[in-house]
Amino acid sequence: MLRSSSIGLIIREKEPTNLETPFEQVDSFLTPTELFYIRSHFPPPRLDVASYQLRIDGAVRTPLSLSYNDIRSIPSATRIATLECAGNSRVFLVPQAAGAQWELGAVGNAEWTGVPLGALLERAGLDEDACEIVLEGADHGIPKEPPVPPGPITYARGLARSKAVQREVLIAYRMNGRDLPQDHGYPVRAVVPGHYGMASVKWLTGIHAVREPFRGYYQTSDYSYWDRLDGTPVRRALGEMKVKSEIARPGVYETLAPNQMYTISGAAWAGETEVAEIAVSTDGGQTWAQAQFLDPVQRYAWRRWTFDWRTPNKPGRYALLARAKDAGGGSQPDEHDPNYGSYVIHHPLPIEVFVGEWTSSSR
Ligand code: MTE
Repeated sequence: MLRSSSIGLIIREKEPTNLETPFEQVDSFLTPTELFYIRSHFPPPRLDVASYQLRIDGAVRTPLSLSYNDIRSIPSATRIATLECAGNSRVFLVPQAAGAQWELGAVGNAEWTGVPLGALLERAGLDEDACEIVLEGADHGIPKEPPVPPGPITYARGLARSKAVQREVLIAYRMNGRDLPQDHGYPVRAVVPGHYGMASVKWLTGIHAVREPFRGYYQTSDYSYWDRLDGTPVRRALGEMKVKSEIARPGVYETLAPNQMYTISGAAWAGETEVAEIAVSTDGGQTWAQAQFLDPVQRYAWRRWTFDWRTPNKPGRYALLARAKDAGGGSQPDEHDPNYGSYVIHHPLPIEVFVGEWTSSSR
């Protein structure tokens, strides 16, 4: 169910297509496909299902090449998973960071249907020494950000073997009960629940089992962060999502009536664990009160929540914040961790609103 009939996405980049969900529009547990954000690095490739082939090769005993019909004839599974782009909420970083200025809507929750990746790897007979599975898309080009590779590259990501064989990881061909739309990876994409969106490779044409960790551009130069190994800074690839919550309503600089009940609403999600707690602050983080979940616990799916706020009598500007905790003890940090650069923005994001009559002096 949508709040209004004015469905539409916000342009963050015209070409390649990068469109954001107007987060305040989403009211339903499943994000309608036409409202689901689109994040693409290259122009979408046009794949013809009649000639489509998915190669499964590398460190396997029996390399396979599957047609679209082959894939659709394998027993399928359906899972609900939240995808969040690792750069979601970048616009909240101060000073401003380079890259698409995503606000709150580079995230969505959808139902995906396809074949478990593990079932395909089992058919191919994964070698014991395969450590990662490289998922490769058909889209290609030369990335703009340095270090610029010597020629065109495809969009490809390595996934740890331990995750790739888990039943939740899908090679999907349906989204919310319909065939994947072109921008979301038609005809076939990976869906890696619990990981940032970059892991869910669209327009999937290759599944390559490798014996050494993959060092491709989107694994090392992009979608990576600083970690420490025995005290020494090392680069690592982004993977699991961190616990996060966002306020959908009210919107930034919305004016609310004083001394009225207003239902603040939003959603919260986590990585390889469940969202367990949600709290809201209406005074910029000085005090917090528990909010109510609308959706039950379901690993990999977001949980919408609400908080009934009696707006203050005193007109003025108020900063609203939401903070979630996950079942593994993870909590949203007070500040953005600079080791993640312009990614993993999961600190509580301030939504400033006005209470009272709109007057020029209140702004
Ligand atoms: N797969 C391919 N082949 N090419 C891409 O540019 N973008 C990734 C991922 N898979 C990408 C891709 C990123 S960064 C994200 S956040 C998700 O797709 C977004 O999926 P969506 O466009 O269906 O929302």
